[in-house]
Amino acid sequence: MSNCRIAPSILSGNFAAMGETVANVEKWGADLVHCDVMDGVFVPNITFGMPMIKAIRPHTTLPLDVHLMIVEPEKYVERFCDSGADIVTFHPEASKDPRAALLAIKAKGKKCGLVVNPDKGFDLVEPYMDLVDMIVLMGVFPGFGGQSYIESVSDNIVLFARKIAESGRAIALELDGGVTETNAARFRSLGVTVLVAGSATFKAADPEQAIKVMRG
Ligand code: DX5
Ligand code: ZN
Repeated sequence: MSNCRIAPSILSGNFAAMGETVANVEKWGADLVHCDVMDGVFVPNITFGMPMIKAIRPHTTLPLDVHLMIVEPEKYVERFCDSGADIVTFHPEASKDPRAALLAIKAKGKKCGLVVNPDKGFDLVEPYMDLVDMIVLMGVFPGFGGQSYIESVSDNIVLFARKIAESGRAIALELDGGVTETNAARFRSLGVTVLVAGSATFKAADPEQAIKVMRG
């Protein structure tokens, strides 16, 4: 039994029936529900905000893993926590005060994390290793589901897995973007502990089976 958890991204789900979508994610045996919040400024796409998190909350008992792709996340993190998020992650370069935002999430009793784009390095999260519960490595540039994994991210996976081990803290290492049934095993072997899978879950002929394969 592997220790890896699977977090389907509802970005690839049915927007006309999100309650049903998250209930299905749970029925299929996933571990987390990944919610992609985009503001059209930090990324060139717009999805949904706090009202969606609040609306889906009663439809699943799984933790809601909320990935903020928004500028000035510090202005909104508490409201995402109050709406039912269990984990809130954001991109530090989008924040004027990442430490304050991380502390605000923790003060709400929720897990906090930082997200690293494919062209960014460990320096971005190093100052916050004492605080983060999760580090998310983007396998693609954020904004859209269904993109192909950028191979050079694997160097970051290895580096971040080592830095997390050296920290002595229990920090989850999530990979977001481009994960498939074919490449999941490789990411697990490199040290990823949470795999986000949007299209690999929702476009699978048998999502339950796809989740089992990706979890390993
Ligand atoms: C990209 C999002 C991802 C995306 C993953 O901006 O952060 O979570 O939905 O989609 P797939 O798994 O299809 O690459
Ligand atoms: Zn995401």
